[in-house]
Amino acid sequence: MPVLTGFSRPPGRPILSVMAILKIARMGHPVLARRAEPVPDPTAPEIRALVADMVDTMIDAPGTGLAAPQVHVPLRVVVFLVRKERCTDLPGDGPVDLTVLINPELTPLGAETDKGWEGCLSVPGLTGNVPRHRRLRYAGYGLDGKRFEREAAGFHARVVQHECDHLDGILYPQRMADLGELGFVEEIRKREAL
Ligand code: NI
Repeated sequence: MPVLTGFSRPPGRPILSVMAILKIARMGHPVLARRAEPVPDPTAPEIRALVADMVDTMIDAPGTGLAAPQVHVPLRVVVFLVRKERCTDLPGDGPVDLTVLINPELTPLGAETDKGWEGCLSVPGLTGNVPRHRRLRYAGYGLDGKRFEREAAGFHARVVQHECDHLDGILYPQRMADLGELGFVEEIRKREAL
C-alpha cells in the first residue's frame, strides 16, 4: 500500500505526495532475463510516475541504482546516483546526483577494464568482483525529453554499466570471469573492503 510521507522525494516533487515502494524482482525471474523495450515518449506522465516510484524504491532498499526491469517493468529506464565515498580517484569519477537515464546508449572509451565489488538488489545478500570498462561515454534522455551525454570513469562508469546491463537481461554474475569471487556480503566483508 502507498503511504503518505515527506521523505526521500526527488527534487521538484511535492513534499507531501503518495510514495510507493515497489517489489523488486530477484534473479531467476524472467523479467530480469529479457531485453527491455525502448520508451517511446520519455515525457509521458506514466514514465514520470514510474521513475518516482523507482527512486522511492531505490532509496528505501537502499541501493545506488535501479533499472525498471527490477521492478517488473520491461522498459529502458534506469535511475542511479554516485555517493562520494564510493568514488575512485580516477579522473572522471566523482559524486553524481540522482540521474534518470531513459533509452541509454553506452560507448566504452579505451580498452582498460577494472575489477570491483558489486551488489544488486535483485541478487540480495551476495557480492561479486566484476570486470567493467574503466571509462565510457553514455547518452540518453531525461524526463524532460532532452538528450544528454556524459563521460564517466571508475565507480560512476561501473554503476552505469551495471544498471544498463539490466536492460539487456544481464545480471552482474554473468559478467564475472571467476565465480570464485562471488560470495555472501557477510563473508566477503571479512577479507575485503567493500
Ligand atoms: Ni542490479
